[in-house]
Amino acid sequence: MANLRRIIMEDDPLLHLGSVEVKRFGSTLHKLLDDMKETMYHADGVGLAAPQVGINKQIIVVDDREHGFYEMVNPRIVQESGVELGIEFCLSVPGRGGKVPRATEITVEYQDRYGAPHTLEASGFFARVFQHEIDHLNGILFTDVMIEEVREQAEPAEEPRRKRIVGRKK
Ligand code: CO
Repeated sequence: MANLRRIIMEDDPLLHLGSVEVKRFGSTLHKLLDDMKETMYHADGVGLAAPQVGINKQIIVVDDREHGFYEMVNPRIVQESGVELGIEFCLSVPGRGGKVPRATEITVEYQDRYGAPHTLEASGFFARVFQHEIDHLNGILFTDVMIEEVREQAEPAEEPRRKRIVGRKK
């Protein structure tokens, strides 16, 4: 059974550290992945990285509500092209948003929970979510790479899915 983990906020030093590679693909990893999935959906986020629950390991979960659920261990962006600006929010940075330049198309190599290697190609908002989450593994928040802060309520509804990144206070 999965449990909710506490999402840490931007002032926590753990969010600004790098993350270590996962080498053991056992029950501890599986439990963490299950908990991260539960925590992401509970917070209505489109992605969550392990450092956000206080664990500096290279693990992310993603669901952009269009391509289904992905869990990735040791993800690496091995190819990228294009650049576009988009609005981002983060569960660890509630109430703030920013315009962030990201690659339009990316190729990600990663391992699944059993250690098997996979490759995924993503574009647009889907690719943006992976870039945001993988940044977390390097201690980078969107606020570190945004070119402009935006006020949440000032944005038109052109990209409604982004709302799911917004942190919610319980
Ligand atoms: Co985030």
